Amino acid sequence: MSIIFMVIAIGNMCGMYDKPLQIVSDRESKGLTFSHSKNLDVVDSYGTSRHIAKYAFPLGSTFTLSVRFDLLGMSSSDKRPRLFQSSDSATSESVSKRKRVPWWQNEVIYQIYPRSFKDSKGLGSGDLKGIISKLDYLKELGIGAIWLSPIYTSPMADFGYDISNFMDIDPVFGNMTDFEELLGSCHEKGLKVIMDFVPNHSSNEHEWFMKSVQMEDPYTDYYIWSDPLGFTEKGDPIPPNNWVSVFRGSAWTWVEERQQFYFHQFLAKQPDLNFRNSHVREEMKNILKFWLDKGVDGFRIDALKHLFEVEDIYQDEPIASDSNLNYPFDYGSLCHTLTVNQPETFDVLKEWRELASQYTDKLLMVEIYDGEIEQVMNYYGNERNPLADFPFNFLMIDKLKNRTELTGKSLKSTVDIWMDNMPEGKWPNWVLGNHDSGRMGSRFGEDLIDALNMLCLLLPGTPITYYGEEIGMINTWISWKDTQDPQGCRYGPKLYEKYSRDPARTPMQWDSTSCAGFTTHTETWLPINENYKTLNVKAQIEAASSHLKIYRSLTLLRKEEAFRSGKLSYPVITNDVFSFARSVNDCEMYLVVINTSENNIMVNMHKNANFRLPDTGVVILRSITDSSENTVPHSEVSLSNLEMVGGEGLVLSLDIQS
Ligand code: NOJ
Repeated sequence: MSIIFMVIAIGNMCGMYDKPLQIVSDRESKGLTFSHSKNLDVVDSYGTSRHIAKYAFPLGSTFTLSVRFDLLGMSSSDKRPRLFQSSDSATSESVSKRKRVPWWQNEVIYQIYPRSFKDSKGLGSGDLKGIISKLDYLKELGIGAIWLSPIYTSPMADFGYDISNFMDIDPVFGNMTDFEELLGSCHEKGLKVIMDFVPNHSSNEHEWFMKSVQMEDPYTDYYIWSDPLGFTEKGDPIPPNNWVSVFRGSAWTWVEERQQFYFHQFLAKQPDLNFRNSHVREEMKNILKFWLDKGVDGFRIDALKHLFEVEDIYQDEPIASDSNLNYPFDYGSLCHTLTVNQPETFDVLKEWRELASQYTDKLLMVEIYDGEIEQVMNYYGNERNPLADFPFNFLMIDKLKNRTELTGKSLKSTVDIWMDNMPEGKWPNWVLGNHDSGRMGSRFGEDLIDALNMLCLLLPGTPITYYGEEIGMINTWISWKDTQDPQGCRYGPKLYEKYSRDPARTPMQWDSTSCAGFTTHTETWLPINENYKTLNVKAQIEAASSHLKIYRSLTLLRKEEAFRSGKLSYPVITNDVFSFARSVNDCEMYLVVINTSENNIMVNMHKNANFRLPDTGVVILRSITDSSENTVPHSEVSLSNLEMVGGEGLVLSLDIQS
């Protein structure tokens, strides 16, 4: 017979905070030894991010459990020792006084593109059971929540962002039983599940749309319908205005049966729902409720700024000053004054916030791509009128497009734009990649991969990691013949490479077997990157150092109080250097230094530092590109002569007491 007990370590250096524990065998153990009856408490879980080790032992046996505190592979004899003690009453009290924050402020959110994560059926495209089979991997990665790109019933014109049944699972991914199993297994492992919610449009194959075409009530006005402005000499109907679709081309499609146009901000197969219709609003609330009642932990709300257009549609949008006259149907050819960010959008978001608030701790994150930061910030709402928990921070995608644009100074101003504009009391977030953008290693350079993950996971705020970024996957070149993404397809064989989103959507690279361990099929829905033989999860688990190992260390490190709630400062910013420090009190500070250039450089952190730094620091983490003897983790390095290779990131711990 065996029982399970939970062990919790309480760190005590400059205050109390919980520490991750790892159970290791006696032989490996270099750490402290406790006898179970006295020093190890069975502790109730506190907060959602507490790391608790589970261990089974025979009832009645006496034994010694060896516990190694394994923060980034440090043993207890390392330079920054962590002192452990039993959870006496004083400790428990200090811990319980810590301000309770919502789970999503402590956790890393990991975006899964289900079609590309793991195939369980041998069909060449990913599914829910495939995700279930990888939950241990995700747990070990140290992320706290998965966000699933759409898995609902869909004709897949836009790979799931065209939904024909918002309350069911597409057979490509499995069925509702699979979903419930995924949700249950995630929750058992302490992982949250975020759904993609796509309210702006449905598929044209949704029964609402088909009934709307037939003018069957109450569906007649579920979509945005318009009479033609008139007819050309040839008898073709003329759309009511010049509005274009995000995917290029007119945003209006003519329907013979109804003798009217319908509006679509995206594909013609994605008709826009009419949110001025109260039935539509109710339908959408019911959909949210359906998933909330199932127990999901929140939503990523798609394309929210497109929810409303002006009521009087017989108006043109102004031509953009930088419009390329050769491409009048490109989305960028117009200033979108009438079709995005309309005031009514915020009323609807408020209704959804109120609905989510009837449940506990539900996360609402909204997708807003907008050049105007004030517009983006409006989606946070404010203290009195809370809306989204956060709009995604796309500045590192939108503002910094390539390596040339990424310097120490530009990174700082990009971080500042978010931090300086965020409403009082709101929480930041960091996005470096997603299914709509190129892989970060391809946009900025593979030498920067670890540094960018350091930035994303150690700045204050919620990091959102796109699957594969933890192993440094890069864009895959896809031929025109293999191109699947409708956005790429709409630009044709000459321009598709610039617009296709396929390169960042290729299958996850699990190992070096055929098809990268993604599927047992011989073909995959998108080609696998040829680098999979060396760039894959298994190889990175086995390697002495790898992107994956750095990433795991980062998820662990960010549990430190300095990163959870510590102050943020920027000691040195130059063209080549972006650095930031996180400190929680007067004795503990971490310093992150990034060489944004492609060259090896020597950094003097004392020159131009805007506050006093100690002479030396201890290396906690360094990019895998650095193989110098001097920066081996745990080494003490001089802050006046920090040698850094191109694109390197370093995390140092500083003793600022002395
Ligand atoms: C935003 C999604 O991220 C994108 O992939 C999709 O094509 C559009 N919304 C339309 O739903």
